[in-house]
Amino acid sequence: MSDIQFPSLEPSPYQSDTLAIRSGQIRGPEGEHNDPIYLTSSFVFANAAEAAARFVENAPGNVYSRFTNPTVRTFEQRLASLEGADFAVASSSGMAAIQMVMQSLLKAGDHVVVSANVFGSTVSLFEKILGRFAIESTFVPMTDPDQWVNAIRDNTRILFVETPSNPLCEIADLSVLADIAHNADCLLVVDNVFCTPVLQRPLDFGADVVVHSATKYLDGQGRCVGGAIVTRSEEVHEACFNYLRTAGPSMSPFNAWVLLNGLETLPIRMRAHCDNAMRLATWLEQHGAVTRVNYAGLPSHRHHEQACKQQSGFGGVLSFEVEGGRAAAWRVIDSTRLLSITANLGDVKTTITHPATTTHGRLSDIQRQKGGISEGLIRVAVGLEAIDDIVSDLATGLDACLKPE
Ligand SMILES: Cc1ncc(COP(=O)(O)O)c(C=O)c1O
Repeated sequence: MSDIQFPSLEPSPYQSDTLAIRSGQIRGPEGEHNDPIYLTSSFVFANAAEAAARFVENAPGNVYSRFTNPTVRTFEQRLASLEGADFAVASSSGMAAIQMVMQSLLKAGDHVVVSANVFGSTVSLFEKILGRFAIESTFVPMTDPDQWVNAIRDNTRILFVETPSNPLCEIADLSVLADIAHNADCLLVVDNVFCTPVLQRPLDFGADVVVHSATKYLDGQGRCVGGAIVTRSEEVHEACFNYLRTAGPSMSPFNAWVLLNGLETLPIRMRAHCDNAMRLATWLEQHGAVTRVNYAGLPSHRHHEQACKQQSGFGGVLSFEVEGGRAAAWRVIDSTRLLSITANLGDVKTTITHPATTTHGRLSDIQRQKGGISEGLIRVAVGLEAIDDIVSDLATGLDACLKPE
């Protein structure tokens, strides 16, 4: 075991709105009301014997902020409690969290089955980086269970899925994927960035590990980059913690403090994001220039029923297609005045992006085609501005598409 005690959280009597604000904080001798920031790289020991004991894992307590920091620990415990988990390990970014899981649990010669609809950098991580260390991946259509089963080999160790997917909002059946994974003695790892634990708790559906880009909704105001893995498995936690201790993709205490403040308003923000996104999706669906809207809250979305089964809301991200490919999509994007043209999502400010040339721009044409990323696709991460203002900003460009050139 590691030298720091990570108390297994008792089943909490509190609801998630309360946990988001209260869990994990240990008030210090100053009686501070808000979470303190422990902005320090190392910690002082009472004497040499205590230092020795902490280093060889015989005594609890902080050692060095690469792997033990009270502010980071509070963030980990708060996120774990929201996901209904016992453990979390925070990381420097969402990508670092995915990398941490893979490098902690896999070795050369192992194999991973990955949904074809994952975030662009996640594809590159599996193909270009893990591939160089002889960890092979097979990409399969996210919502076709037979293809997941067929892709499993003797050396498969992990199944990795992101649901809802970015940017098409496709929904995987988590219980089915968990069964497929466990029947093959594999772990199911789920990227829960789009829903956050407020809208979906993958561990309740049998997933073994959840990964987060805290950069998105957990922060909620586009201020800092961070990530985390969350699990109920002591074994997975220990492997990831030991990796973090040695390899050091650590979250800074300052970022942990920003994220703690973000978590306090996560439930209320997520509900507001869902309301705005639903209203925008409904408006887009009836607009003559829009050929398709991808938002699982719409009854017309082919995974609407599945989303209703495992999510308590449909999230703040949607995408839609316009006729005329890249040129038309760029025209719509460039005609906005209020929306921010940026690839981030999960911010109170609405963002708009062209996935084919930004988030998924480093993929090959075939990879983009497989992932359903067309040239006419636009992604909007709906923020918390007045929905009428968001709609009128998009209406300018979309109405122009209907007029003859
Ligand atoms: C679904 C998803 N997973 C992971 C990441 C990576 O997170 P980060 O940018 O914090 O490394 C992103 C980033 O956009 C994302 O959208």
